[in-house]
Amino acid sequence: MSQIIRPSILNNNPRQQYRWHIFPTTSALELTAVQSILDAAQLAISERKAFHIVLAGGTTPRHVYELLRNKITDWSAWHVYFGDERCLPANDAERNSQMAAHAWLNHVPVPPENIHIIPAELGATAASHAYAHLLNTVGMFDMVLLGLGEDGHTASLFPGQDLGISPDSPAALAVHDAPKPPPERVSLSAWRLSQTNQLIFLVTGASKQQPIKAWKNGSEIPAAAIKPINGVDIFLEDGLL
Ligand code: 6PG
Repeated sequence: MSQIIRPSILNNNPRQQYRWHIFPTTSALELTAVQSILDAAQLAISERKAFHIVLAGGTTPRHVYELLRNKITDWSAWHVYFGDERCLPANDAERNSQMAAHAWLNHVPVPPENIHIIPAELGATAASHAYAHLLNTVGMFDMVLLGLGEDGHTASLFPGQDLGISPDSPAALAVHDAPKPPPERVSLSAWRLSQTNQLIFLVTGASKQQPIKAWKNGSEIPAAAIKPINGVDIFLEDGLL
């Protein structure tokens, strides 16, 4: 089980409550993440007959996705979105959608029409417009999963760039000069990522210690721009805080 340290309300903003969950091992973090996702799905499906989840990209969530492959849930009620996507060909192995497909989605009966891939092969501007149009038909997400970069970025929201904090921001942003390759990306805005009942950051690896410490000390890293109404759960490996 994780050791939950006291929720810290930073910046005196009661809405921005962080719950820092410290896990002794990566495996313990991943198993808890899987159970948290399944619990959220069960609740949403029982209440609203649908579960809307936004997936994190990168490498951290891969094993969580692999573990989900063998779980029992009403997959027909799942609706899957992506927090960001790299502007690469649709079947490029470096696409976040491809990682999720190979690790998980190709192995479970989520209806294909419920897997909402960002058409990033169209280019950042066209894809962000298309995905924003889709997201404008979707209400609050039930669960958002996010990773954290060494520079404090999340999704494809990078330091010094437009994070889309305002409610007037487009739901999806075109990113043209990402410091993490590829430079061309699409990202949900910070505001749109915040429209969720639950949000979990999955953070493993010693390289994340610096952004975590900065975040805990109140630095306005891009991840700190995500402010869901029910706060944020940050799943950390021991030693990162
Ligand atoms: C991406 C991700 C990005 C990722 C972080 C952490 O497209 O790369 O959306 O935000 O979550 O960079 O990446 P790792 O999990 O590989 O450390």
